Amino acid sequence: MDFAHIETRARAARASGQEIVLVLGLGFVGTAVAGNLARAEKNGARLFFVIGLDRDDAAGRAKVARLDAGSSPTYANDPSLEHVIHEACTSAQNLLGTNDPRAIGLADVVVSCINLDVQREPGQTESLVVPTEGYAAAMRMVGEHMRPGTLVTVESTLPFGLCDRVLYPALCDGQRKRGVDVSAKPPKLAYCYERVMPGPDYLDSVNNFWRAYAGIDEASADAARDFLAKYVNVEKFPLWRHKSTRAAEMAKLLENSYRATNIAFIEEWSKLAEGAGVDLFDVIKSVRVRRGTHDNMMLPGLGVGGYCLTKDALLAAYGAERLIGIPAEMPFSRRAILTNERMPLRAVQWVEEHCAGALAGKRVALIGVTYRPGVNDTRSTPSEIVARALAQRGARVVAYDPLVTHWDEVPEISVSQDPQSIVRGADVVVICLPDPLYRPFLADLLKAEMKSGTLVVDPWNMVVDACAAEFAKRGVQLRVYGRGDYPTASARPVKT
Ligand SMILES: NC(=O)c1ccc[n+]([C@@H]2O[C@H](COP(=O)([O-])OP(=O)(O)OC[C@H]3O[C@@H](n4cnc5c(N)ncnc54)[C@H](O)[C@@H]3O)[C@@H](O)[C@H]2O)c1
Repeated sequence: MDFAHIETRARAARASGQEIVLVLGLGFVGTAVAGNLARAEKNGARLFFVIGLDRDDAAGRAKVARLDAGSSPTYANDPSLEHVIHEACTSAQNLLGTNDPRAIGLADVVVSCINLDVQREPGQTESLVVPTEGYAAAMRMVGEHMRPGTLVTVESTLPFGLCDRVLYPALCDGQRKRGVDVSAKPPKLAYCYERVMPGPDYLDSVNNFWRAYAGIDEASADAARDFLAKYVNVEKFPLWRHKSTRAAEMAKLLENSYRATNIAFIEEWSKLAEGAGVDLFDVIKSVRVRRGTHDNMMLPGLGVGGYCLTKDALLAAYGAERLIGIPAEMPFSRRAILTNERMPLRAVQWVEEHCAGALAGKRVALIGVTYRPGVNDTRSTPSEIVARALAQRGARVVAYDPLVTHWDEVPEISVSQDPQSIVRGADVVVICLPDPLYRPFLADLLKAEMKSGTLVVDPWNMVVDACAAEFAKRGVQLRVYGRGDYPTASARPVKT
């Protein structure tokens, strides 16, 4: 859509009383935010005219094209998503996409949802590259195009200190370049981190959930509060105002680091249970009855995946050391990241043991390659670690995932939507994800297809109880994280 057309539509929308919001970045967060803003209503009228802006590259143009065709740029297994986006783009006509940054100049509010990755070599957490300059460049671009008085909110997860040390100065630079006297008209910048959860409640996890905000100054914080209150269900979920953008940045990082650490903590108990012939799943269930203190204890699993939990603790260390200049030893958080990263390699070790080290040519079938059930996001998945390690050892790795047609991060492995063709003839099956989409049939499929002498690795305790007796009869080996009560190569069951 050309810029003149967008401008005409935005002006008409403003004339009809709608506020113009530009969402920067149409990824998993940006799509959910854009959808929520577009569906927000007061007295039956849509509140916002929403413009989604993504990079002018092949991937960014593809996202904009999807949006303009009335479809969501990302998939999240939320049944309401496609409907909300389609309706906004077609009948309500209050959502469109563009790759033209001039659209920023049309906005009353800019919501930044772009990514900020952590680059590092696996196995260490000391040497980190966080391309903050890229984020600063995006803020300069916003500053160069936006009208003075525009509210800019940032929803991305940031190393703490980034808003005040880097993003605000970059926004001011951009405004100065535009000829704005920023001491007379300081830009408004707020940090409103996102807790969106891709999956069935994707859209609601933005506006029917607890939200927090902070401003670079009081005027920015007030403006962010007023903006959020227009589309977040603040009666049920009152907003939390942080004392500074740095505090809000830290809150998001602490939240995710806490979860990553809890996941890592269970790993050592899994190993203990396996060696001791104990069912850790049953043990944890018994401990979880202590409501309020122990009821969210994590269960064992292949590993932690996704874009956020695998990096956010490191953003805290990076922000402390590089942006604020304070030491950040952070032994628990760093150890958690490394423990979680190594967790999937136990499955690889079991496969190696089963094949007596001779993996070359062995057909290994991976079940599920996304980072969590119900999404098509394959970034930082434990299955990627398993796939790469097995392929390096010469295995023929094949994969099944009902939601993935192309594995962007591991393009050399083709992903099929036909589970039978993937499992049939496999020497080893590794269940990388316990997705409810295949839960109803996976155990029966494995019972029908796995031959004597093959191995099934079930890190999530997904098919064990349904398959164990049949596998034992037929000579199929079964290994489960945290379940020492099933026969394994290293431990026999201990009956009490
Ligand atoms: N995915 C989640 O569930 C989740 C949840 C909470 C917070 N977050 C945080 O939100 C941020 C975004 O995450 P995501 O999963 O949506 O990432 P993503 O990679 O899916 O999306 C980012 C989008 O921003 C676009 N982009 C990057 N730079 C741009 C620029 N300069 N101009 C225009 N577009 C640009 C990219 O092309 C991409 O479409 C990250 O900081 C992440 O940690 C993510």
